[in-house]
Amino acid sequence: MINVNFLLYCSNFFKRAVVITSLLLMVLSLRSQQIVADSAMVVSAHPIASKVGAQIMRNGGNAFDAMVAVHFALAVVYPRAGNLGGGGFMVSRTANGNMYTLDFREKAPAAAHAELYLDKQGNVIEGLSLNTHLSAGVPGSVDGMLRAHERFGTVSLADLIQPSIELARVGFYISQDQAATLNRYEKELKERNENIPWIKDEIWKSGDLVQQEDLANSLTKIAERGWSGFYRGETAQQIVDESKRGNGIITAEDLENYSSVWREPIVGYYDEYKIIGMPPPSSGGIALMQILKMIEDCPIHKWGPDNKKTIHLIVEAERRAYADRSKHLGDPDFYDIPEFGLLNTYYLESRMNDFERKRASISNDIEPGNPPVLESVETTHYSIVDQFGNAVSVTTTLNGHFGSKIYVDGAGFFLNNEMDDFSSKPGVPNMFGLIGGEANLIEAGKRMLSSMTPTIVEKDGSLFMVLGSPGGSTIITSVLQVFLNVTEHEMGMQEAVSAKRFHHQWLPDKIFVEENTFDSKLKGKLSKMGHEFEMRRFIGKVDAILVKDKLLYGGADPRGDDTASGF
Ligand code: DON
Repeated sequence: MINVNFLLYCSNFFKRAVVITSLLLMVLSLRSQQIVADSAMVVSAHPIASKVGAQIMRNGGNAFDAMVAVHFALAVVYPRAGNLGGGGFMVSRTANGNMYTLDFREKAPAAAHAELYLDKQGNVIEGLSLNTHLSAGVPGSVDGMLRAHERFGTVSLADLIQPSIELARVGFYISQDQAATLNRYEKELKERNENIPWIKDEIWKSGDLVQQEDLANSLTKIAERGWSGFYRGETAQQIVDESKRGNGIITAEDLENYSSVWREPIVGYYDEYKIIGMPPPSSGGIALMQILKMIEDCPIHKWGPDNKKTIHLIVEAERRAYADRSKHLGDPDFYDIPEFGLLNTYYLESRMNDFERKRASISNDIEPGNPPVLESVETTHYSIVDQFGNAVSVTTTLNGHFGSKIYVDGAGFFLNNEMDDFSSKPGVPNMFGLIGGEANLIEAGKRMLSSMTPTIVEKDGSLFMVLGSPGGSTIITSVLQVFLNVTEHEMGMQEAVSAKRFHHQWLPDKIFVEENTFDSKLKGKLSKMGHEFEMRRFIGKVDAILVKDKLLYGGADPRGDDTASGF
């Protein structure tokens, strides 16, 4: 049954009408310089990593080669999220239009179980899934990079890792933003580790040199011995020893058994755009597609980005998609996900049945839906397009800033605290306020549900956009808004990335907004409808590339040191 209320709300099908985006709003939005390239481009969280990747392609390497080089470079120059000790997801589209997604998400160690973080009374022990050796999943990043390289790489692994080894050994100068982050987290880093050789005692300032000899040695082992240089031998032993030191449960067998998985992408359509997204255990692809489908028939192009109707509509769709996420999504190797039901057009129409034009829903009244069962049919993101037309979209993470903040002694890298992405107990929120149930309970060898949303978009059969973001639960909605800013609101790539963002995730029942996102009049109107607000300094940090008129336009998020580099 279709909700007439909803149809009426969306009844002005002027989607393709020309809209003059308000100049004032453009001026109000944050902006940095638009970077344009005509052959290849990398947009990542750190200028050095972007340059390393661009140089690999300038020398003839492809986007997958650049991905490996950028990933290892970020592990050195962006240690709060770039990593050897974490995991992530890759969405790629080769020049001939084939799509491949690789799941290199961390896995729960074999000794993990559903009560891991509960006390005898069955209550969650605060901090256990976040701040301890027990919070680390078995790292997947190195396996992911090596598998993608094996399949698509053209440059030797040693040549791709060499720049990172040098950066780690010779050192790099930190930025203002990195100095501030180190000052903020230094106390915890010192409390949790006896010795991080490069952490100093004085206040950090921009321009300080960071040299990581241990990390250079770990990288060298990977360059020389490949998979065995990390998952076996000295580095593996260092991880196991570190885990034991803090009553962790990662064993040599866990490392030996780690393997990433090639999965079928989530593919959907929004108007003339084909969206290629990451399937579970990421919730990103499904949730993004659900939200897009719920809003597709509404003329938000006509309403504009800062209109109460646009925001109310998107928030209500987000509320419903995140409610579904809480119940239906988890690791598909352990839980039967009603993927096709969740993306079914009739199901998504029915999700908006209780949409009210003038009033915010109350999240406690919105239950996760019952999709039809159908027959089968501090994270960081980087986007790369090469001179051959291949595209790679990778989001990778340690979860929190510096993950568990536990440094593998002698190996030079941090362990993730990804186990917090599991549902420690049904109904109890994780660090992003996300709630889960049976689908995402801890089980040995299972992958924890993620919000990471590396995405590639096609238009008329050609590559159109590559994008993704960090930001925990806000990743999905950050990707959504940047996509809509370009496709509906006619913004350029950089402008779309810089524009202010808002976010709703069902529970807690409020709209999170960056400062100055809505003016007081718009906020007043939305409040009258029953929406509540909470300020956030930043929502997401999107790095994206738009392909237009045979040129590549970079969108590097000014919320960080993010940089586009191309030629
Ligand atoms: O996989 C996830 O959804 C989270 N572990 C991502 C964490 C994140 O984005 C933190 N960075 N801002």
